[in-house]
Amino acid sequence: MASNLPIGVFDSGIGGLTVVKEIMSQLPGERIIYFGDTARVPYGSKSKETVTAYSRQITRFLLGKEVKAIVVACNTVSAVAMDALLEEVPVPLIGVVKPGARAAVETSRSGSIGVIATETTIRSHVYNSFINGIDPKLQVYGKACPLFVPLVEEGWLNHHVTEEVVEHYLKELLEHDIDTLVLGCTHYPLLRDVIQAYVKEGITLVNPAYETTKKLKQCLADKDLLSSYKQVTDHTFYVSDGAEKFRSFANSILPCEIIETKDVNVKTFE
Ligand code: DGL
Repeated sequence: MASNLPIGVFDSGIGGLTVVKEIMSQLPGERIIYFGDTARVPYGSKSKETVTAYSRQITRFLLGKEVKAIVVACNTVSAVAMDALLEEVPVPLIGVVKPGARAAVETSRSGSIGVIATETTIRSHVYNSFINGIDPKLQVYGKACPLFVPLVEEGWLNHHVTEEVVEHYLKELLEHDIDTLVLGCTHYPLLRDVIQAYVKEGITLVNPAYETTKKLKQCLADKDLLSSYKQVTDHTFYVSDGAEKFRSFANSILPCEIIETKDVNVKTFE
């Protein structure tokens, strides 16, 4: 039955697990095949061409696993490679940027929205385009925060250095009187506590993972592809390097235990 096939989810590394967590919560009956490109992370400082080439290899790998849909759980890929992927992926393909932009528009009351993301995502201005495509009057202020990814990868989620880096990046955004801040990189929800503590209560943090999963659910329902299982735990995790480190990180944030993570050489999927 096509509806009981797994969903492919991919990211440049561990960050996409924040999206996996949301899928497991909203769609507990869906089996997930995850790929994290841990050998080539970060994508956020790479060119559109490189990110697109890497993403093509990964979608081909996932399609070989007979997935019924693919979630691009990486803002950088969603920002710069979505059009190229849509041309060649024959199953529903859902990125995180459009749903994140919509959630920001629905959240903001003041009309001033901040977006924090990788350099490549900010440079693409894709959040601005989607947000202003919905409402041209909204003001969007973007800020690249390149040090957040290595801090998360290092596990420094509540470290005093992380607090200083948060202040360094966000001080300037706060001058614009924003009331909504989009966590436009999959790693950033893991820094949610320290970011919220710095920006105080008046600013709502938007995690695109929630809205993305809602969109995934709607898309599967429209195509009659929702799984008939109530609850599954047999998800499969692949990475391009460091399977054991990935597994222990995944087990620190996901609700079910990941028994095994497999290494795969995705470069052969040309
Ligand atoms: N996963 C990437 C994103 O959401 C961040 C990490 C990276 O730079 O690869 O943009």
